[in-house]
Amino acid sequence: MNRPQDETYLQAHTDFQQNLSYGDYLMLDQVLSAQRPLTQAHDEVLFIVIHQVQELWMKLMIHELTSAMNLLKQGHVDPALKMLTRVCRAQEQMAASWEVLKTMTPSDYLQFRASFGRASGFQSHQYRLIEFLFGNKQPFMMRPHQHRPEHHRLLEEALQAPSLYDIALHLVAARGLDIPERVLKRDYSQPHQPDAQVRAAWLEVYRHPEQHWELYYLAEKLVDVEDNFRRWRFNHLTTVERIIGHKQGSGGTAGVPYLRRALEIVLFPELWQVRTDL
Ligand code: HEM
Repeated sequence: MNRPQDETYLQAHTDFQQNLSYGDYLMLDQVLSAQRPLTQAHDEVLFIVIHQVQELWMKLMIHELTSAMNLLKQGHVDPALKMLTRVCRAQEQMAASWEVLKTMTPSDYLQFRASFGRASGFQSHQYRLIEFLFGNKQPFMMRPHQHRPEHHRLLEEALQAPSLYDIALHLVAARGLDIPERVLKRDYSQPHQPDAQVRAAWLEVYRHPEQHWELYYLAEKLVDVEDNFRRWRFNHLTTVERIIGHKQGSGGTAGVPYLRRALEIVLFPELWQVRTDL
């Protein structure tokens, strides 16, 4: 039974003629009407929701990552680290969502697979943007976005701009360590190539963390981010293999072999190499 003071409280918060309600603020009518299965198959709702949830986490990641990159450019390491920690937490949530999706069997999936034709996560512009921000620059990956000029423009900008790792290396140079010009002024539209001098600079940071504490902490945060990204790739691959085996992907790639090759990608190579050097 409600106590009288609860009722008073409720009355004060039931007039939404003048005030924004929870649903209005969060635009829940739009969000909750955006799940439109194309079949009657029970599991199609799960499939749509998991993709949408991951896209929302990606949206937050892009928001945090771009702000963290701007702060790092200005040399503000601490607040950037806080944002990168949030990126890591979002990645963990994305990883957890595979557990829910894995409850769908191959037979469940086949109930609705034909309905979405050639649509594939391969065409996710947010995912590609995150890859570009992290530095996995593959210009041909822009092709699936030609039909959406606003997405294409966003990707083009990120392709031409320094990645998170480029910005980190500029900071390392600004703190007096030796990063060669060929690395600092490279063609940003290509992936970073491992460099012996960069490796030596990180080695100095890891040998003397007390002298380079901010850089040391930043380096470990970058390793956290890449570690989590690898886990996402691996969880996706395993989920895909258990659901579609070695069938071709809806986006037109070979499917599992394509995803397995992506496991070889290294975003911040010298940060992994330095572990061997120590
Ligand atoms: C039944 C579940 C799923 C299957 C069978 C599946 C299958 C595939 C396959 C085969 C590819 C390779 C590209 C292609 O030819 O289509 C791919 C790529 C991709 N998928 Fe999934 N996927 C599933 C769930 C998801 C979910 C929940 C997400 C979350 C957003 C996702 C995001 C992606 C992304 C971003 C790529 C591009 C990866 C890259 O280019 O490295 N997928 N998927």
